[in-house]
Amino acid sequence: MTRQKISVIGAGNVGATVAQFLAFEDLGDIYLFDVIPGIPEGKALDIQEGLPHFGVDAKVKGFTTTSGDTYSNLKGSDVIVITAGLARKPGMSRDDLLFKNLEIMKDVANNVKKYASDAMVVIVSNPADTMAYAFQKVSGMPPNHIIGLGGSLDSSRFRTFIADALNVSVKDVNAFVVGGHGDDMVPFIRYSSVSGIPIEKLLSKEKIDEIVHRTRFGGGEIVDLLKSGSAYYAPGISITAMVESIVRDKNRVIPCAAYISGVHAKHYNVENVFIGVPVRIGSNCVEEIYDIDFNADEKELWEKTVASVKSNCKKVDDFFKSGAN
Ligand code: LAC
Repeated sequence: MTRQKISVIGAGNVGATVAQFLAFEDLGDIYLFDVIPGIPEGKALDIQEGLPHFGVDAKVKGFTTTSGDTYSNLKGSDVIVITAGLARKPGMSRDDLLFKNLEIMKDVANNVKKYASDAMVVIVSNPADTMAYAFQKVSGMPPNHIIGLGGSLDSSRFRTFIADALNVSVKDVNAFVVGGHGDDMVPFIRYSSVSGIPIEKLLSKEKIDEIVHRTRFGGGEIVDLLKSGSAYYAPGISITAMVESIVRDKNRVIPCAAYISGVHAKHYNVENVFIGVPVRIGSNCVEEIYDIDFNADEKELWEKTVASVKSNCKKVDDFFKSGAN
């Protein structure tokens, strides 16, 4: 079997951290791309030089996208992770990044379309659900080959806080967050358990509310602490889990932003957008979307997050229509 080729576009904190975890996990050769000369080459070389300690033979290479047609090195990529874009500063929401990152995403999507339109694509640039939508619009690539980061990371945060509150192993905490990767994401309490025991039986309502709130603003908590940029270790691991499920065809069920159409559109009451739902991820990326049931309160939260994602997608449509791009 030939080694998989995984490209990471954007070699900032998130991109470089993903590249590092992917290489350490021996998931494939890693091609790292960035606009700043020397950064992708330097970081790639740095990761490469540590791999002998892990006995990993993967090749890690870096390319500056602003000199020559280096995007042609995307050719043959099995998976492409897109992290290119600006990160949040304190006081900013993910949505505040929309227009800046849209410009960047457009350029990236055109290059992916040109050189690697058969690849599976993981969108990380924020706001991730909206960027997945924009990427699909520009590239015209099959929507089921595209997933956006969100639930994988938000659920990991949710699990961390539940395990911490109960002093139990994170391994035994099953929890997930659906909806957009924004301030009104929906940490799904009723479907969260410790080895099958519903968390509502183990934690008070106040404590659960506190955990839900901390999960929703988990990214912002890190932005406020770092003051320059956003989280990258937990995002890096969360992205690696998604990529691993693709390249090893693991069929893991991870919530992430997937394209909603057909029967799922009817169930989720939203159509032709990317939004966080539980997805079985395999070698063809989105292998299956699960339709989960909502009670009246959950439905209200779901409709709210849907409205935010839809409003952002409308901004994308207007942006492309206006010719301002
Ligand atoms: C966060 C960024 C990656 O949640 O959106 O930390």
